[in-house]
Amino acid sequence: MRKVTEFKSLIGTDGGLTLELTPFLQKELPEPLYMQLYHWIKKEIEESRLLPGMKMPSIRQLTLHLKVSRNTVEAAYQQLQSEGYLESVPKSGIWVCEIEKPFLHPIAGEHPIRLECKPPSEVIVDFEYGNVDIEKFPLKQWKKCLTDAVDQESYQYSERMGDLALRQEISNYLLQSRGVRSTSEQILTTAGTQASMTLICQLLALRGKTVAMEEPGYNGVRAVLEDQGCHIEPVPLEKDGLSVEYLRKSRAKAVYLTPSHQFPFGMVLSISKRMRMLKWAYQTGGYIIEDDYDGEFRYLGQPIPSLKSLDEEERVIYLGTFSKSFLPSARLSYIVLPPSLIVQYSRKFAAYNQSVSPIIQRAIALFIQSGEFERHIRRMRKMYQRKHQALIRSIEQYMGTQVKIVGEKSGLHILLKLKGITALELIERGQKKGVKVYSPAMFWLQPTPESHSYIMLGFGGLSIEEIDKGVRLLASCLPGMEIGEA
Ligand SMILES: Cc1ncc(COP(=O)(O)O)c(C=O)c1O
Repeated sequence: MRKVTEFKSLIGTDGGLTLELTPFLQKELPEPLYMQLYHWIKKEIEESRLLPGMKMPSIRQLTLHLKVSRNTVEAAYQQLQSEGYLESVPKSGIWVCEIEKPFLHPIAGEHPIRLECKPPSEVIVDFEYGNVDIEKFPLKQWKKCLTDAVDQESYQYSERMGDLALRQEISNYLLQSRGVRSTSEQILTTAGTQASMTLICQLLALRGKTVAMEEPGYNGVRAVLEDQGCHIEPVPLEKDGLSVEYLRKSRAKAVYLTPSHQFPFGMVLSISKRMRMLKWAYQTGGYIIEDDYDGEFRYLGQPIPSLKSLDEEERVIYLGTFSKSFLPSARLSYIVLPPSLIVQYSRKFAAYNQSVSPIIQRAIALFIQSGEFERHIRRMRKMYQRKHQALIRSIEQYMGTQVKIVGEKSGLHILLKLKGITALELIERGQKKGVKVYSPAMFWLQPTPESHSYIMLGFGGLSIEEIDKGVRLLASCLPGMEIGEA
């Protein structure tokens, strides 16, 4: 391994070594400068030329040193931070993080596992996406269902496609709440949306094939598509969802999308686009993989019928999850397979066992049968609506026109489009004041400087008081917004 000193010269002394980096950036290449810089630094870290605990030059220093625009450095740093290569520590600087190396042979392009490289500063409010409300969770009833499930002697393997009682309940529920007509035989339970996607890739033999997805879109699914050897076609978004024109021109065999609440932008796929997408699938024999991850939580107007409910030729594969409507820790999701694929599934996966614990499956079936699930969803919809309203109110009150709210009135997160400040700057400033917000830049397959002009606020797990406090703190980080803190 080459010595660190070969690569750096000391230019700062505040608490650590500051590096002077000299990558070879070429304006004439088609790859944007910020991506060249991002790739260069990433490689330096992966190949241990930049070591954990080393201090990176500040954005200003590197901008001056490389004679590039501030945006270039900012965008590269932002991407490296969102992937866990770098960490910004308030009042200290930007540091190289420790990454876990693959055992013995580093595999090119492998994503590192993120480790904290500095003790985090005190967090007062964390707008992390993915958390659900647990204050009002019916814990007593859920515990009873778990005990009853054990008492019902669910000691053995369940049916290969999942607990039959649960699949029947899911089928009933989908008809009532999402307009999906299915039989219990079509339902296959899985241990999470990524498990569903892995299975679908294998079932449809998508290795080496083109699969389209929204750009930006859910990175959890994108990782599966990459790992399953699919060629990903990023499809741009329009005001009313994914560009069907673009999809038509692609050679995609399948498309993965979030039509009822686009992730992360939050728009709804218009009805005319839904019809055109179905037409695309019928004409090309393609499959539409509909991820209806938070369809339960729409706060205004009629619930939007799922794409699956409009499908007359069985080209839509519907994905659902209990992670938002119940608990992410249940690790329970499901697929509604078109009948023609059930035969294929039985053949291809004849030797595969069901991967979700039969006890959890039976307990959730009991929870639904008791009426608790429906009551829980109704309660949560009201609760999340109140939180959503509080969030919007606080943003309007404290941030005014400094930001633009992006997204429909549904789900458990929103995006803010920033003005006069980048996501990286706001995240850094927020951290200093104890409010954690996140950049959605990792949801882009091909991030652009635009990707770094948003922040994402998840609010499911926060109380209304915390939401208000968090927005106030964040507002005080915006340029020219000197307001008192709560
Ligand atoms: C778009 C999308 N789909 C699905 C999920 C849920 O995934 P899982 O079922 O693995 O919890 C999430 C959670 O964050 C999501 O954002």
